[in-house]
Amino acid sequence: MLSVVILGTGNLAMHLFRAFSRSSGVRVVQVVGRNPESLYWFSGLVSTTTDFTIIEDADVYLIAVKDDATAEVSHHLHGKKGVVAHTSGTVEMDALIPENRGVFYPLQTFTKGKDIDFEKVPICIEAKEEQSLIILRSLAHTLSQNVHEVHSEQRKKLHLAAVFVNNFTNYLYAVGEEICIKEGLPFDLLKPLILETAEKIQSMSPKEAQTGPARRNDQKSMQDHLKLLDNEKHIALYKLMSEAIKQAYEKKL
Ligand SMILES: NC(=O)c1ccc[n+]([C@@H]2O[C@H](COP(=O)([O-])OP(=O)(O)OC[C@H]3O[C@@H](n4cnc5c(N)ncnc54)[C@H](OP(=O)(O)O)[C@@H]3O)[C@@H](O)[C@H]2O)c1
Repeated sequence: MLSVVILGTGNLAMHLFRAFSRSSGVRVVQVVGRNPESLYWFSGLVSTTTDFTIIEDADVYLIAVKDDATAEVSHHLHGKKGVVAHTSGTVEMDALIPENRGVFYPLQTFTKGKDIDFEKVPICIEAKEEQSLIILRSLAHTLSQNVHEVHSEQRKKLHLAAVFVNNFTNYLYAVGEEICIKEGLPFDLLKPLILETAEKIQSMSPKEAQTGPARRNDQKSMQDHLKLLDNEKHIALYKLMSEAIKQAYEKKL
C-alpha cells in the first residue's frame, strides 16, 4: 500500500483525497495546508497540519497548491525520501527542489461540490528518476487506467490545448447563456446541442464535425447575427471566430 501526503486544501486536493480514500491501494497519511479553515474539511478524516515543518514521512508527496506557490512549497520537502510530485499542467517538473521529483497531473476540471469519476481521468506522469516513475505510475493506476507518461514540454502544450477546449468553450457557453437570459429564454434549450457537439467529437475529428454559417460562408446570416449583438466583446469574438472558421474551410485554389 502506498502512503501519500497531500499539500494543499483546494479543489484538486479535495478530489484527490476523496478518490484515494475510496482506493484500497493508498493511504493518505496527512493533509498539509496553510489555512486552518480550509483544513477543517479534512480534519476528523485524516491527520492535518498548518505547519509545513512537521510533514510526515510518506511514499509520495502530492503538491496541489496554486501553481505559483508550487516551487516554494517543495522547499519544505527537501531531504524527504518519498517522491515529491506537483499536480500542475503548466509548471515544469524541474521547478521542484527535491531530486526525487515528478509530476502527477490529472487532466480534468475539478471543482468543489462536483464529483468526478477518476477512473476515466487521464493522469499524466513524469519523473526525474526511473524508480520515482514506477511509484507514480502505480499510484496513478490506483485511480485510473488512463495513465500516460508525458514530459514537461508536452504537458505544457497539452494544458494549452485544454484551455482552448475547456476554458474558452465554457466562456462561450456563458456568452450563449447571457444572450438567452436577455431574451427570456432558458439556457436549458441549448444543452442538448452542447452535449451532441461534445459527443460527436468522440468518434469524429472536430475538423470534420464543424457546422454553422462560417463553415458554409453564409455571409447574410453572419451579418444578421452581428446586427443582433450589442456587446463589443461579443461582436469582436463573433468576427474573430467566424473568420478563423471561414479560413479553415476555404477551398484552396
Ligand atoms: N482544479 C483543477 O481543475 C485542476 C486540474 C488539474 C490540475 N490542477 C492543479 O492543482 C493545483 C491546485 O489547483 P486547485 O484548483 O486545487 O487550486 P485552489 O482550489 O485555488 O487551491 C489552491 C490551494 O493552494 C494553497 N496555496 C496558495 N498559495 C499558497 C502558498 N503560498 N503556500 C501554501 N499553500 C498555498 C491554497 O491555500 P489557501 O486556501 O490558504 O489560499 C489552496 O489550498 C494547481 O497546481 C493546478 O494547476 C488543478
